[in-house]
Amino acid sequence: MTQNLTQNLPAQNLAKDDFRIRLLIVDDEQTIRRLCMTVGESLGFVCLEAESGDVALALLEEQPVHMVLTDMVMPRMTGLEFLEQVKRTYPRIEVAVMTGHGSVETAVQAMKLGAYDYISKPFAPLDELRLFLRRMADKVRLVEENLYLRERSETETSLHGIIGNSTGIQNVLRLISRLKDTHTPVLISGESGTGKELVARALHFRGSMANRPFVAVDCGSLVPTLIESELFGYEKGAFTGALRSKQGLLQSADTGTIFFDEVGELPLEMQAKLLRFLQEKEVRPVGSNQKVKVDVRIMAATNRDLDAEYRKGTFRKDLFFRLNVVAISLPPLRERRSDIPILAAFFLERLAPGRGVQLSSAAMKALLAYDWPGNVRELENCLERAVALGDQRIIEINDLPPSIARSDSETEMLDAPRFPGADLRTTDLEDIERATIERVFSQVKGDKVRAGKMLGISRATLYRKLKRYNIGTHEEAQPPSTLQ
Ligand SMILES: Nc1ncnc2c1ncn2[C@@H]1O[C@H](COP(=O)(O)OP(=O)(O)OP(=O)(O)O)[C@@H](O)[C@H]1O
Ligand SMILES: [Mg+2]
Repeated sequence: MTQNLTQNLPAQNLAKDDFRIRLLIVDDEQTIRRLCMTVGESLGFVCLEAESGDVALALLEEQPVHMVLTDMVMPRMTGLEFLEQVKRTYPRIEVAVMTGHGSVETAVQAMKLGAYDYISKPFAPLDELRLFLRRMADKVRLVEENLYLRERSETETSLHGIIGNSTGIQNVLRLISRLKDTHTPVLISGESGTGKELVARALHFRGSMANRPFVAVDCGSLVPTLIESELFGYEKGAFTGALRSKQGLLQSADTGTIFFDEVGELPLEMQAKLLRFLQEKEVRPVGSNQKVKVDVRIMAATNRDLDAEYRKGTFRKDLFFRLNVVAISLPPLRERRSDIPILAAFFLERLAPGRGVQLSSAAMKALLAYDWPGNVRELENCLERAVALGDQRIIEINDLPPSIARSDSETEMLDAPRFPGADLRTTDLEDIERATIERVFSQVKGDKVRAGKMLGISRATLYRKLKRYNIGTHEEAQPPSTLQ
């Protein structure tokens, strides 16, 4: 029997409104088939019939069917054999069985093979069959409806909450659909706050491994000396303080996904160990001489330019190529400003469900003009603040943080003299921003590339802010310590 997976899978091509249950009745007795057809049709089903299991299987290859009602005792192929075949080839089709009186055992067996339920023949009164089929149809409808809704939302803009109509985001969504059911390693790159983790989660939770573990490892926050034992686990007594043995993160992710966030932060020594793991697919806990097989899908994210780093030698080239089998790159928000309105609408609805909060046109203009060094996360935070501050339905430009509110008319505002009575919030926040930049700038001894990275803002934004706050403009002439 050839498997036909396209025909009888979901009724996804049926528009919701003209969704009609398709019932297949299988019985060698014509009178029984007629009777069931009449009842099914009275419930509004499309009814099909077959006089034996093999005829029914042939029919299933050609026609979509949601539910089957089958006799148990039939020539050539028994009801149980038929049920088993259907469940194997079309797991989503619900199958109910009709049993002659006294054959409880067959009914039990059928249930074990995945039958929906059983009903005994002869049907007296007929209403019993009607009710039985109606309940079964309700279940089918519920499942189909959920599938329909899920598939519809997948094909529309949002995939696991990833919003965006820009070509950049649409390309990412397409890649996710293509990769979600594979084991291919994926390297996700993008500036801070562009949605790298969101993409990794979508790849896992939208795919066939959704109910397997998803373990995220933040390489940036792990203490270097503990990374190995965290990843590979350790045996009791492996080092001072190892009072009992502990499973490592790699093993916890077995059969699922392990996601190395900020993989560029991994020390070179650990990069070598990770590479070895990827080659051998085995872990050896610290202090143990036993190796354990671990089968995981690997994903990694970085906001650094690993391509440049491996050329410089700060990231292992061989590891880079192992991780970067498929690259997904998330464009910064300022390069896809067309996504700002729908992202804003999405966040406002999530932050204040049902309140219909909107942005005034001046506020929207400011959001569109701003550079978003912190990308989508910054937008989300900015709206959260606005919703918390404003108690009305419209977010005005004054509800936005000053740096954003100002972005529309930046130059004139910047050059305007500060009046003593100026908005206090503005001054407070600017003081904080200035102090932060000054601190970081002196920490990195005036290295603008590093300062930008530490602050999570682009070089252009950093230059703009340095100029605005008059920081480091003389750094060539002065030692950085004088910037304190
Ligand atoms: N396209 C998007 N649609 C909806 N929400 C998004 C989108 N992109 C990002 N977000 C939201 O923005 C926030 C930041 O996303 P995420 O944590 O995935 O970014 P990241 O790239 O991993 O950032 P970092 O580099 O700082 O770790 C999250 O709350 C996420 O839900
Ligand atoms: Mg992240």
